[in-house]
Amino acid sequence: MKLLEDKILSEGLALSESVLKVDSFVNHQVDPFLMREIGRDFASHYKDVHITKVLTIESSGIAPAVFTAYELGVPMIILKKQTSKILKDHILQTNITSFTKGTSYELTLSKDYVDDKDTVLIIDDFLANGEAAMGAIRLALMAGAKIAGIGILIEKSFQKGRQRILDAGYEVYSQARVAKLGKDLIEFVRE
Ligand code: G4P
Repeated sequence: MKLLEDKILSEGLALSESVLKVDSFVNHQVDPFLMREIGRDFASHYKDVHITKVLTIESSGIAPAVFTAYELGVPMIILKKQTSKILKDHILQTNITSFTKGTSYELTLSKDYVDDKDTVLIIDDFLANGEAAMGAIRLALMAGAKIAGIGILIEKSFQKGRQRILDAGYEVYSQARVAKLGKDLIEFVRE
C-alpha cells in the first residue's frame, strides 16, 4: 500500500537492523486519516470473503482493526493481554512469548463474542516472528471460527512470521513489507 510505505519512509525510524519505530503514526500517536485508508484497503482486499468479525490484539492493532471493521460493517473484537478477574469461566486463553520483547502473556478471548458461525479476519500492526498472530489464530480456532486471513500493516519480511503463518495454512496480506532495515535505510520487498 503506497500511502503506508510513503508514511514509513517519511516518518519511520530504523532503530537497528531489526526494529522499526513508527510511534508518530501507529504505536503512540495515531494518524486517523491513514488508519481510515488502511481500513478501506483491508476491506477491499477481503471484500469477496464473508467476514463476520475482525479480531485484533491490544493495543496497537485496535485503531486499524476498528477502521477495517467499520468498512466491512462488522464488529471488532480485542484479544486481551490481561485476564479479567471477573470472567474466569467463560474465556479462552493461549500463552504468547514475544521474542521481540522478551515477554510472555496469556492472550484472552471471551466465548461470548466468537463462535463456530464466525469467519474472522485477524488484524495486527506488526508481523515479526509471528508469535502474536499464531496465538490469535489458536484462539479463533478454539472458539470454533473459520479464519479468512491475517491482515498486517507492517511485515518485517526478514523475520519468520509470514512463513510460519503460511506453513500453518493461512493467508497473509501485508500492506507494507520491509525487506531490510539499517542506518538511514528502509527497503521494501518488490514483487
Ligand atoms: P515476535 O513473535 O517476534 O514476538 O513478534 P510479534 O509479531 O509477536 O511482536 C511482538 C510485539 O513487538 C508486538 O507488539 C509487535 O507489534 C512489536 N514489534 C515487533 N517488531 C516491531 C518493530 O520493528 N517495531 C515496532 N514498533 N514494534 C514491533 P505488542 O507487544 O503486541 O505491543 P502493542 O504495541 O500492540 O501494544
